[in-house]
Amino acid sequence: MKPKVLIARAVFPETIARLSLHFEVESNPDDTIWTKAQLIQKLQGKAGAFTTGSERIDAEVLAACPQLKIVANMAVGYNNFDVDAMTAAGVLGTNAPDVLTETTADFGFALLMATARRVTESEHYLRAGLWTKWSYDMFAGAEVHGRTLGILGMGRIGQGIARRGAHGFGMNVIYHNRSQLSPALEAACKARYVSKEELLGSADHLVLVVPYSAASHHTVGAAELARMKPTATLVNIARGGIVDDAALAVALRDKRIAAAGLDVFEGEPKVHPDLLTVPNVVLTPHIASATIPTRRAMANLAADNLIGFLTEGKALTPLNPQVLPG
Ligand code: GLV
Repeated sequence: MKPKVLIARAVFPETIARLSLHFEVESNPDDTIWTKAQLIQKLQGKAGAFTTGSERIDAEVLAACPQLKIVANMAVGYNNFDVDAMTAAGVLGTNAPDVLTETTADFGFALLMATARRVTESEHYLRAGLWTKWSYDMFAGAEVHGRTLGILGMGRIGQGIARRGAHGFGMNVIYHNRSQLSPALEAACKARYVSKEELLGSADHLVLVVPYSAASHHTVGAAELARMKPTATLVNIARGGIVDDAALAVALRDKRIAAAGLDVFEGEPKVHPDLLTVPNVVLTPHIASATIPTRRAMANLAADNLIGFLTEGKALTPLNPQVLPG
């Protein structure tokens, strides 16, 4: 008998078809967001689950689903997993790194550009019929080329953004990270390691790419915003909760910083209501990796992990390899 697998969200039909060659698959064609109780109920008897960032896999879920062996996330971030609890339960977690790096870095740069150059704010003005004449300072934004690009979190995506800034836009790139990159990687990114304080105070454009954890909650709050230049822009493509959205809305309203571009939000898909009323923010609905080729590659990687693990005990991108057999 084929092992049973749950696909927790709507996904490419070919992903479902491919998994169905190996498993008895239950999918979610209506793309319902299940409650925890519904997720537990759906997971009964399943050996594997294909998840996205919206399904939380914690000790309660694991205890209620003793047949579960692997959960494969179609996302590079995995803050929806309690990895320690998964390890304790002997359940493998996998994520989907690498395949989205360049696409996500493209989007980070797009959001930076849109924010600095006030693309959506000016479009709203035009669509509202308010544009009656050209004027010399209309929607004047911030320079991007040649300015200082700060990156907080210099993993693969951070490095991709650094390369775009340094090589494409002649920017002076500085970064802060838990550990300093090797000299070779720093040279490839033309990036200089600085303290978090220097990063906050020196960046003209600051992009956040740190993974979310309890330790990184509100990495940028009122105190950090106060250290930034009043002309600076802030871009968050990391996770909601890295930025204190309420404090950011105040800083934007009071022009403590010039503008922000946000793809992720605390408590998304809800957005802090004050962010919806300030004009100097570009808001996008968590789409940094959203191109069809990249989303397909992410789905394929999650499927590869499920197939590899449940048929041969192997996984391409394990988060807790200690639970792998042997
Ligand atoms: C998207 O946010 C991801 O983690 O892949």
